[in-house]
Amino acid sequence: MSTEFDELQELLSADARKLYSETVIDHAMNPRNAGIIQDADGFASVTGPCGDTMEIWLKVNGDTIINTSFMTDGCGTTIASGSMITEIIKGKSIDEAQRISQQDILDALDGLPQESEHCALLAANTLRAAIRDCIAMKREPWKKAYRKY
Ligand code: FES
Repeated sequence: MSTEFDELQELLSADARKLYSETVIDHAMNPRNAGIIQDADGFASVTGPCGDTMEIWLKVNGDTIINTSFMTDGCGTTIASGSMITEIIKGKSIDEAQRISQQDILDALDGLPQESEHCALLAANTLRAAIRDCIAMKREPWKKAYRKY
């Protein structure tokens, strides 16, 4: 038996489907790799011009990203972008991950509405900053002791 709540949910998701791809809805509703990695090898927190912040953690073995996670205080499309970028880079080399662009995230999400495309840019910029941190920590590992994560 369907309740009024179920009907409202259906209406909302029917509306969401007009705007967003199935992939975006899936990653926004069931984000992959959300959370913090303690003792990460790379970390960055970047705030975009819209005021939303994304954080990305990287764990590497040699040159390979073996684990990654993200957190954001942004909207559903920001969550979907963080979820997708962490899925894309798992198992990739630092070099390959460094080349992931906003467009790669948009393609993997089957697109975002134009007004939300900057969410994918925030994810790409945060990843680049986390990789820079990872490279810097490799050079000067003692700095890790002064980091929040
Ligand atoms: Fe600000 Fe998505 S709305 S990053």
